[in-house]
Amino acid sequence: MTPSIKHSPWPMPLILISLLLVGGVNAIADLKVTRLRCEYLENPLGIDAPHPRLSWILESSQRAQHQTAYQILVASRPEWLEEGRADLWDSGRVRSSQSIQVDYAGRPLVSRQQCHWTVRVWDNDGKPSPWSRPARWEMGLLKPADWQAQWIARTTDTNVSPAPLLRRTFDVNGKLARARAYVCGLGYYELYVNGRKADDALLNPGFTRYDRRALYVTHDLTPLLRDGANALGVILGNGWFNCHTRAVWNFHEAPWRQSPRLLLQLHLEYTDGRQAVLVSDGTWKCAAGPIVFDSIYGGETYDARLEQPGWAGPAFEDSSWQRVQVVPGPGGLLAAQMMPPIRLDRQFKPARITEPKPGVFIVDAGQNLAGMAELRVRGPAGARVQMRYGERLHPDGTLDTRDIEQHVKKLGAAQQHQTDTYILNGRGAERWRSRFTYHGFQYIEVTGFPGRPTLDNFSICFVHSDVPEAGRFECSDPLINRIQRAAQWAFLSNLQGIPTDCPHREKNGWTGDAHLAAEQANFNFLPVTVHAKWITDLGDEQKPGGQLPGIVPTSGWGYSWGNGPAWDSAFLLIPHYAYIYYGDTAMLRRHYDGMKRYVDYLTTRAKDGIVGIGLNDWAPWKTKTEAPITDTAYYYVDTRILAHAARLLGKPSDAAHYEALAASIKEAFNRRFFKPETAQYDNGSQTALSCALYQGLVEPAHKDRVLANLVASVEKANNQIDTGILGAKYLLNALLENGRADVAWRMIARKDQPGWGWWIEQGATTLWEQWSGAESRNHIMFGDVSAWFYKAIAGIVPDPSAPGFKHFFIKPHLLGDLTWARGEYHSIHGPIVSAWKVADGRLHLDLTVPPNTTATVLLPLAGPALENGRPVVQAKGVKLVGNEGGRVRLEVGSGHYRFSGSLGR
Ligand code: BGC
Repeated sequence: MTPSIKHSPWPMPLILISLLLVGGVNAIADLKVTRLRCEYLENPLGIDAPHPRLSWILESSQRAQHQTAYQILVASRPEWLEEGRADLWDSGRVRSSQSIQVDYAGRPLVSRQQCHWTVRVWDNDGKPSPWSRPARWEMGLLKPADWQAQWIARTTDTNVSPAPLLRRTFDVNGKLARARAYVCGLGYYELYVNGRKADDALLNPGFTRYDRRALYVTHDLTPLLRDGANALGVILGNGWFNCHTRAVWNFHEAPWRQSPRLLLQLHLEYTDGRQAVLVSDGTWKCAAGPIVFDSIYGGETYDARLEQPGWAGPAFEDSSWQRVQVVPGPGGLLAAQMMPPIRLDRQFKPARITEPKPGVFIVDAGQNLAGMAELRVRGPAGARVQMRYGERLHPDGTLDTRDIEQHVKKLGAAQQHQTDTYILNGRGAERWRSRFTYHGFQYIEVTGFPGRPTLDNFSICFVHSDVPEAGRFECSDPLINRIQRAAQWAFLSNLQGIPTDCPHREKNGWTGDAHLAAEQANFNFLPVTVHAKWITDLGDEQKPGGQLPGIVPTSGWGYSWGNGPAWDSAFLLIPHYAYIYYGDTAMLRRHYDGMKRYVDYLTTRAKDGIVGIGLNDWAPWKTKTEAPITDTAYYYVDTRILAHAARLLGKPSDAAHYEALAASIKEAFNRRFFKPETAQYDNGSQTALSCALYQGLVEPAHKDRVLANLVASVEKANNQIDTGILGAKYLLNALLENGRADVAWRMIARKDQPGWGWWIEQGATTLWEQWSGAESRNHIMFGDVSAWFYKAIAGIVPDPSAPGFKHFFIKPHLLGDLTWARGEYHSIHGPIVSAWKVADGRLHLDLTVPPNTTATVLLPLAGPALENGRPVVQAKGVKLVGNEGGRVRLEVGSGHYRFSGSLGR
């Protein structure tokens, strides 16, 4: 995803202008502007935000560098940019250190507008940097009236199975400057141009509440089209749009359910200025394709004998094909898909293959994941290879799918689940993988294979939303590294256009799971584009009275069970995290009214300030914690987020109102649950105590005693975690934030039950749903432990008062027997590295602070701190502040540092 950060010589006129302005080569700043991004994306097509947000990253070999001003040029043609002719926007020199989330503020952008941009900045001393390498973005179709295309389908019957093929031929007459296809094919589509797939996306477009909003994708077809005859071909899958699997969440009865359909509009621009538009309409032709069955839950059946070679090419003879029908669309808005699509992350060879029964083979991927297998087979025409996917084996080595198919089978015993079938055409070496479904699995039961399969007959495909990697964490304890790895695999397995709970049983956008996993997601990857899209989905599902469902999107299920503040708070928490981690206020702004409706709704449900209407600390070990505690705490947190958003957005009277409400909730919470004599909250469970601490509900005067009770309660439980998914997040963070990371560490770094380490000891390669080991083995809802590794061990902690890591803390904890740890986090301002090791009683910390940011470093040293072997007071970029809570406190500017000092322990 990341382009190389080479610095290309930038066109002469601009360099000359820079030189003239500052009077000579030596006056160029040691700052390089790189990684230009628009709406978090690199050179995106199809942006429909009217004022796209621009960000860049600075590089410098000097310490303590920051930006004092910037200038952005945006031009509608690349050559104009080179000439310094910014017809769309010349921001002029803006005195500001802001290098992220800068709103485009030039001429109003129109549909399909091309925007080429470059940035330069001024450094500490007022010297300008060279201009950045140019980047670009392109607007999508901004108005409903831009769409001339019609929705088309092969049939309107939702029961007819084969995935339709649609095609249209057309001529290109001359040399093309630009060809863009805007495509929404529901449930899923694959676009082919002259027989070649137009991109490497899978399962596009992302799942939405289709009757309220459907996403279109912009394809650059310029390199795929040729002068003369061309053809477009599209295959449509059912996906979530036409879900025929009956299951307890009622997607088979979704209000949006229709047969697969396509909307496509191709804009051609010739080099000589001519333009042409080709649209989906009644002139397209269609036929049934070789995918004879496809279902998001059920799997796919492909009959290779029905293939029509060349069907998506211009020369194909389609006289036997029918004309398509023009049909109604799904009914809602069309919006640009401004997030990375699902892609194939990697393919790998399975670990082993066994034959627990004659002719029944079990392929073991060696890893739990989301995706499918690519089958490689030779055999007679008509041979049927069936692959059933699951994540457990019976003691006899056969596949055990009971846990993951329970909700589907409840409504139809005979329904197929996670099953792909390939019927051979017998024409030699055949290769196939399913297109319109994905599975959660470690094992594949293979039957009907012609002959004896070997490992070479299968390639395991890992498939998920292709969000960039942002972080890496490693330390000297292999168990911790395996937990970290399992969290990453579980998170990616559960990022499929929406954040999901599990990739097999449900594939549902459970709101609670998503917010509990959001901070680790932000450390490990860049999920914010998917989160932003999905928070819009939550907005689309909110009832006028403020209620939210437990799963999003939903067919209508989940408003009366499976929701409640602990889940619904995703609607406020994820935008809030986007603010903290990326300085992003767009989600807060966009959903402000909805958030307000939600908090007001909770107020209508509160009795004496207490809310108790939803799921409680889900999937607990032994001790339960009643919902009013966790619910009321979320009610408080939501109200505070809302009040904060009101301040940010310039709504002081709202802010005052919700601040007062928050104060009253805090009082009510303490009145009801706090026992001043003992400093216990309610039943004194780990969850109750840590909830009060973590959510900021404990009065300062009582903090020490509450903390002591929490530590005592952990010790009473033999230093074992005794919470569900909510408490797991509070507990680790409450201990960390209150100076007892050591207590959290004792729970994490052990291999017995319950705990993450026990899962790993049982062979887990992803995180599980239950401490007991029951049910799903690929859930991310206990995954916040990974964020804790970054915060507690590497010590990389965001500062909410300087969001987007403009300022942050480096406060590593040297826990247990750890001898080293390394955390690397590619913040929106650039890479932060915190790598420490302990040797000979000394701590060594290698630290990278990105230009234009600062950090507060807190080191647990007994003696003086050195930087590169010299007293820190002599080091450029470092200010020694003194001692704080047993740590040396340093304020540092950007740059690379090597701190060391003797340890106090
Ligand atoms: C899902 C969870 C979800 C929970 C809430 C489960 O079936 O898999 O992850 O949060 O239900 O009820």
